[in-house]
Amino acid sequence: MLEKSYEYLKNRLGNFVPDTAIILGSGLGDVITAIKEPIIIPYADVPAFPTPTVSGHKGVFYAGKLGKHNVICLQGRFHFYEGIDVRMIYEVIRLLKSLGANSLIVTNAAGSLRMYMPAGSIMLIADHINMSGTNPLIGVCEEPYFPDMSNAYDLEMRNRFMQIAEEERIPVFQGVYMMLTGPNYETPAEVRMLQMFNVEAVGMSTVPEVISAAQLGLKVLGISVISNLATGMDLHKPDHHEVLLQVGKATKKLSLLITKFLEKE
Ligand code: HPA
Repeated sequence: MLEKSYEYLKNRLGNFVPDTAIILGSGLGDVITAIKEPIIIPYADVPAFPTPTVSGHKGVFYAGKLGKHNVICLQGRFHFYEGIDVRMIYEVIRLLKSLGANSLIVTNAAGSLRMYMPAGSIMLIADHINMSGTNPLIGVCEEPYFPDMSNAYDLEMRNRFMQIAEEERIPVFQGVYMMLTGPNYETPAEVRMLQMFNVEAVGMSTVPEVISAAQLGLKVLGISVISNLATGMDLHKPDHHEVLLQVGKATKKLSLLITKFLEKE
């Protein structure tokens, strides 16, 4: 489906072969400032590649060295709520794998379901619940047909990340992320339901990428930056500008943690 995108990117990257792909969530673009001498490719230049419609998602590839790794970073992701078929998300992950990536770091902005985890917190995703009502593997029909999700958020990567967070004295939570389609924020009743489901964070992305990565055999590290308490938990109404603002404040911490993580091994 994205053969033309692959040909173009392969050509632009030349000898550079990424081993790690990074997908940046809303407002988390600063992570790319840590990439040395990046090759910068706007999505608009890439044949057949879609363009994101959401503010905070620029639509640019950054490829370069980060820590000990060759990374390809996607500043700007695609969401089901944009009307993009989640199958396209699978094709994007397959493209990243074809370019050389064997692991994937996904970040997102998320609402917190826990009072102890306020805006600005970082939560490593330990597991997810797919409440999106869809699945990126529908129609893929390739082996493994029924991928295992028991270690979808790789335990060894999470342990390594937690160790770095401890060394850097940056508090990091771990928890379950639930994806709803959006694009509206939750109602207070939905938030109460999510709390009963023992979910720590809620958002509108990431799950399609991670399911795709599991099918394609990529190891995943998933990180949520908490931008707000979910609807009804405090007096604020969730708002996209507020989300970008809060996430922007945490982006330096996140950038440091990801860089140290990629320096370690
Ligand atoms: N709900 C869903 N998605 C989100 C939220 C939220 O409260 N905050 C950031 N993304």
